[in-house]
Amino acid sequence: MVPFLDLKAQYAEIKDEVNAAVMGVIESCQFVLGDEVKAFEDDFAAYCQSDHCVALNSGTSALHLALLALNIGPGDEVITVSSTFIATVAAIRYVGATPVFVDVDKASWTMDANLIEAAITPKTKVIMPVHLHGRVADMGAICAIAEKRGLQIIEDAAQAHGAQHNEKRAGSFGAIGCFSYYPGKNLGAYGEGGAAVTNDAKLAHKMRVLRDWGQEEKHHHAIQGYNARMDGIQGAVLRVKLRYLDKWTEARRAHATLYDELLSDIDCTAPLATNDRHVYHIYSVLVDERDRVQKALGDAGISTNIHYPIPAHLQGAHTDLGYKNGDLPVTENLGSIFLSLPMFPELSDDQISETVDGLRKAING
Ligand SMILES: Cc1ncc(COP(=O)(O)O)c(C=O)c1O
Repeated sequence: MVPFLDLKAQYAEIKDEVNAAVMGVIESCQFVLGDEVKAFEDDFAAYCQSDHCVALNSGTSALHLALLALNIGPGDEVITVSSTFIATVAAIRYVGATPVFVDVDKASWTMDANLIEAAITPKTKVIMPVHLHGRVADMGAICAIAEKRGLQIIEDAAQAHGAQHNEKRAGSFGAIGCFSYYPGKNLGAYGEGGAAVTNDAKLAHKMRVLRDWGQEEKHHHAIQGYNARMDGIQGAVLRVKLRYLDKWTEARRAHATLYDELLSDIDCTAPLATNDRHVYHIYSVLVDERDRVQKALGDAGISTNIHYPIPAHLQGAHTDLGYKNGDLPVTENLGSIFLSLPMFPELSDDQISETVDGLRKAING
């Protein structure tokens, strides 16, 4: 049996530290924000090579508040990708703005920067690339276009804690970088959590106000705000786990190298290898007859997943945007052939071999 993810194995490694951290919050009764969250914000900002981190209750809130902080609203367009978790698109719609989808590159599976210029209109305000599966999008090209055309960048780095492109960390390229700490993420809380990082003190301040009911001062709600604060327990857990993140990331990267090697004689496509620091939140391969192959793996006791089978532009919630099948051919094709293999730091070499053997048998029918 090979699980897709094993959070219990990770907890076993850090149990004493996590338990002490959680008990510390309970003793202090700082259940919402508080000292542990503040300390985590400082640690995570430094980790992301950013000046400020605003800790929130989810990655979705991070995207939502990032858009609000940049005054994005009805009538504005945000260029993004459809090959993503639905939250990227939901956040754009929460503020009343319009998502404009560009296709992804067929090798990197992230935003195809060559398609951005043609998607820009007088209404475009933001480019929102997604660092899918833990690979930083083509930020050199995306930043150059944004600068030339006077656009802001919000990075959806929900899957990319610690990923790097040219030595620069995910989340530090644009105006604001957004992270999720959903439990299964590379840095996962023990519940919901998220954060936005930025080098702009004013944007950080605005997001702090937005997360706390629009209060600059107790009982003074200067702007429409939200309840989007991080819990104290999550801050304490994340602070402990952040100290292990690089070790866990190196384990993921070693697993990916082994997968790459073992998959080389199998009829499937492994993730593109580059010199960037891909953090392999997800290790997906491209495989024909994906559903049949996935079923055969499942029957052999190997758990897999799909990230993501139905692109956002073809989801019922977004039919009013007017996209149809065929509009984003690379995205649509990837959705039908993506297959995510087991990937977590504690995965053993034997489990990787078993997965690859299972895949070989499944592909060969
Ligand atoms: C690419 C992407 N964006 C946004 C989110 C939303 O994060 P959360 O689940 O913490 O709200 C996720 C997480 O699932 C994600 O994978």
